Amino acid sequence: MKAVAVQAFGSPEGLAVVDVVDPSPAEGQVLITTEAIGVGGVDAVIRSGALAAYGFSEGHILGGEIAGTVAAVGEGVDPSWIGQRVWAFTGVGGGYAEQAIASAETLIPLAATVSAVDAVTLGSSGAVAHFGLRHARFAPGESVLVRGAAGGIGIMAVQLAVRGGAGAVAVTTSSPERGDRLRKLGATHVLDRTGEGDKDAPTGYDVIIDIVAGTALPSFFAKLNPNGRMVAVGAVAGEPPADFATEMFAAFQKSLSFATFSANTVPVSDRRAVTAELFAAASRGELETVVHEVLPLEQAALAHQKMAAGEVFGRIVLTPSATG
Ligand SMILES: NC(=O)c1ccc[n+]([C@@H]2O[C@H](COP(=O)([O-])OP(=O)(O)OC[C@H]3O[C@@H](n4cnc5c(N)ncnc54)[C@H](OP(=O)(O)O)[C@@H]3O)[C@@H](O)[C@H]2O)c1
Repeated sequence: MKAVAVQAFGSPEGLAVVDVVDPSPAEGQVLITTEAIGVGGVDAVIRSGALAAYGFSEGHILGGEIAGTVAAVGEGVDPSWIGQRVWAFTGVGGGYAEQAIASAETLIPLAATVSAVDAVTLGSSGAVAHFGLRHARFAPGESVLVRGAAGGIGIMAVQLAVRGGAGAVAVTTSSPERGDRLRKLGATHVLDRTGEGDKDAPTGYDVIIDIVAGTALPSFFAKLNPNGRMVAVGAVAGEPPADFATEMFAAFQKSLSFATFSANTVPVSDRRAVTAELFAAASRGELETVVHEVLPLEQAALAHQKMAAGEVFGRIVLTPSATG
């Protein structure tokens, strides 16, 4: 079967289409014929080689989120899954392929009303946004700032904060056009990447969901209300400076909190239940999936180039079927 592997760490051009042996499901696993494959920020980090120390080597097939049809099951898995359309989480690899392996415990059956492309756009991002807001102890009526709102996680965080009864939902983004799109998704205030640019925006927020991190993260502590909570769910601009907590301590009397959040700390069954509910909400028209572009699997390198160029609003999705 065809797959896309990291032939050489570094730029997107290091991705190559390769022919590999069809995988076969081990105990507790299923084999899925892919219909749609989500292209995630973590894929770009793995491709860059930054995670080589964590066991990722050249030759790695990228891709953690897929939707398709179960083609075979391993030992101990209910054979009635065979033929079902599902969303699945493959972990940190194996998804950029015509067939992929996933643990059966991650499977979510897809209703006919949810397309495979929408499922991989919404699935992981929605769960991270949901549990990130929960980690921040977000409550109805509170004000929320989503920093780096134009990606998959941010778009979901905006919509879920609105749905959860937020008093105000501000976003940071790099252009007025993106700001307009985020307003249509429910953002009440649009800020530039420094957190400025709207004189009517709240001066403080109860919750900041930060997908960006990087050197500017400490400056956002000043935008938290007393008892405010900042949760870093991503780090697209890299890690914050080592002394990033200095500004939080300088505002000691505001009782601020900072936390990181990884969906890895959420039990798979909880993630599955929430993701299934998000799919149901999307099919009722209560959540919008924002697909930037659908590209053939073979054009995974182009997808990564577009991500690296900062062109992507929402999610790029790869489809083996589009390869003809
Ligand atoms: N917590 C978890 O369990 C979990 C799970 C999966 C992934 N992640 C992490 O989430 C992140 C990817 O999320 P995503 O796909 O939603 O994000 P993304 O699309 O890669 O980036 C979000 C937005 O951040 C803005 N941005 C990019 N670089 C920036 C910079 N240098 N300074 C300020 N803003 C910048 C861009 O918007 P503008 O151009 O409009 O500013 C971009 O659209 C990765 O760090 C990944 O590792 C976390």
